[in-house]
Amino acid sequence: MILVFGSINIDLVARVSSIPRPGETVLSPRYETLFGGKGANQAVAAARASEAGRVVMAACIGDDGFGRDARANLDAQGVGTAFINVCEEPTGCAFITVDEAGENAITVASGANLALTHAAVPTNGVQGSTILVLQMEVPFAESLAIAERTKQAGGRVIWNLAPAPASFDPSELRRLLAAVDFLVVNEHEALMTATLIETPRSPTDAAALLAKVGDTNCIVTLGEKGAVAFLSDGSRVEARAAPVDVVDTTGAGDTFVGILASALDEGLGLTASLERACEGASMSCLKIGAQTGMPTRNELVDRRTGDR
Ligand code: RIB
Ligand code: NA
Repeated sequence: MILVFGSINIDLVARVSSIPRPGETVLSPRYETLFGGKGANQAVAAARASEAGRVVMAACIGDDGFGRDARANLDAQGVGTAFINVCEEPTGCAFITVDEAGENAITVASGANLALTHAAVPTNGVQGSTILVLQMEVPFAESLAIAERTKQAGGRVIWNLAPAPASFDPSELRRLLAAVDFLVVNEHEALMTATLIETPRSPTDAAALLAKVGDTNCIVTLGEKGAVAFLSDGSRVEARAAPVDVVDTTGAGDTFVGILASALDEGLGLTASLERACEGASMSCLKIGAQTGMPTRNELVDRRTGDR
């Protein structure tokens, strides 16, 4: 089973010729209201890639239209919503601009996401078969608590360090590394995090360092170049991404994480899991919005080569 403990947002997305700099205003003809939040995105990516009924989400929404729509979307996508609570703050909202090259800039108003606690997941909600999926848009201490509960129950933990925290207490980082089976970072997040320990020369060096210091597995995503995993035994595994005409990279990292969780839940090996995750992340860049382009199980299987 996959348990995603994380954020739910509504994304307000505007296409711009270039992302505004401080003090600048740019015009866009319209905006779109889309489903987002790194937690919800990862849950949807995992659910689309998995057999029915494998994914549940723990989260907080507000008592508002955005929250009701977001929950209905998760229901429709086959994500279990029993651990989603309604709280006083408004549903999280992300303000996103996407430029002509498909790059984005995002401001997240966290709202209800900050009210999520590990108590949202009942005692029997984590088990030996659980794959817990975490990000960085809900309170860190609560994510750590549910990660430690999952480890105690014998489950596995995938932690996507996105968005990269501006600061990290070194003791918190040590606890995180001890509670994680797969740390997933992009190049920027790898550098930011490893710099707390020593100065890495490159993102891949940074990921190797995190794997070594944490005695864990660290996966660094490299955009169109694919992904590399540095394993706790000192070995490394790589996967390539298929080249695509990028429309919008928003949610590509979330697609990667969700499909990775799904492939591991299905019992695939790490190389095959990374390949499937890279393939799906590339496909997700073909459509505007975080969830729109996430592939279904059939679409992934159709394009799959040498998975087994
Ligand atoms: O990773 C993309 C997501 O980040 C968006 O959906 C937005 O909600 C922000 O949380
Ligand atoms: Na997309």
